[in-house]
This record gives sequence, C-alpha cells and structure tokens, in this order.
Amino acid sequence: MRRAFGLSRAWSLKRLGAAAVLVAAGFTTPAIASGDKVDPQFVYNSSLAATCASCHGTNGVSVADARVPWINTLTPKEIAKAMLEYKNGTRSGTIMPQLAKGYTDEQIEIVAQVLGKK
Ligand code: HEC
Repeated sequence: MRRAFGLSRAWSLKRLGAAAVLVAAGFTTPAIASGDKVDPQFVYNSSLAATCASCHGTNGVSVADARVPWINTLTPKEIAKAMLEYKNGTRSGTIMPQLAKGYTDEQIEIVAQVLGKK
C-alpha cells in the first residue's frame, strides 16, 4: 500500500509540474526557444506574472465589476511605478501594499514587462 501511494504521488507531482510549465508557457507567445526546449528565464518570468493572474487575469484583464483594476491598460513603466509605490508605502490600497512587499525590485520589473501594454 505504501509503495502504491508513493508511486501515484510521484506520478501526480510529475503531472502537476508539466501542467505548471504548460500554464506558464501559454502566458504570452514570444520568447520560447526553438525545438522542444523552453527558455528557463521565460518560464520564470511567466510564472512570476502568473502570481498576479488570480486577481488581474492572465493577461492583465480582470473580470468586469470585480473591483480589481485592469492592468493591461498600463505601460510596463506605469505598472512598475505603481508596484514600487505600493511597496514603499507612498501609494495606498487594500491588497497591493502588502503584496508588493513580497517582490524584489527586479521581480517587479519582470512582471511589469510581462503584463504591461505592448
Ligand atoms: C489578491 C488579489 C491581487 C493580486 C494577487 C494582485 N493584485 Fe494588483 N491589485 C489588486 C487590487 C484590489 C488593486 C486595487 C488597489 C488595492 O486595493 O490594493 C490592485 C491594483 C494594482 C495596480 C494599480 C492599478 C491602477 O490602475 O491603479 C497594479 C499596477 C497592480 N495591481 C499590479 C499587480 C501585479 C503586477 C501583481 C502581481 C505581482 C498584482 N497586482 C497582484 C489585487 C491584486
């Protein structure tokens, strides 16, 4: 029994990992390396931006009337500026001030680039 559990657990973790990569890779289209290889930096950047998706939607477009602003209307520069202001306390909000503190300035720059208006 223990062995069977161990096997199925390993199997599902593998599946979860594959699903996570698929979700991350589907985030935006460009920058995937040729062949079957996925650029690790691309996966990292997409995964970071995916942490914003639960509220702001996968492409920065949240559900209408959900009281979460759309952020794909902002440029990367504007997103980064807002995030840094939430982080250093000069911009108020209900959720973002706490959330922004969890990201380094470099990570803020990355999510801003991924989600900002192209
Ligand atoms: C738990 C939900 C939630 C998550 C996760 C979240 N946000 Fe927000 N975001 C909000 C809400 C709500 C606001 C409105 C300000 C407030 O009340 O904090 C907001 C506001 C913003 C704004 C300002 C938009 C404007 O037009 O003023 C930006 C930029 C932003 N979020 C970026 C991000 C980024 C980048 C991430 C991921 C690192 C993220 N948010 C993750 C809920 C969320």
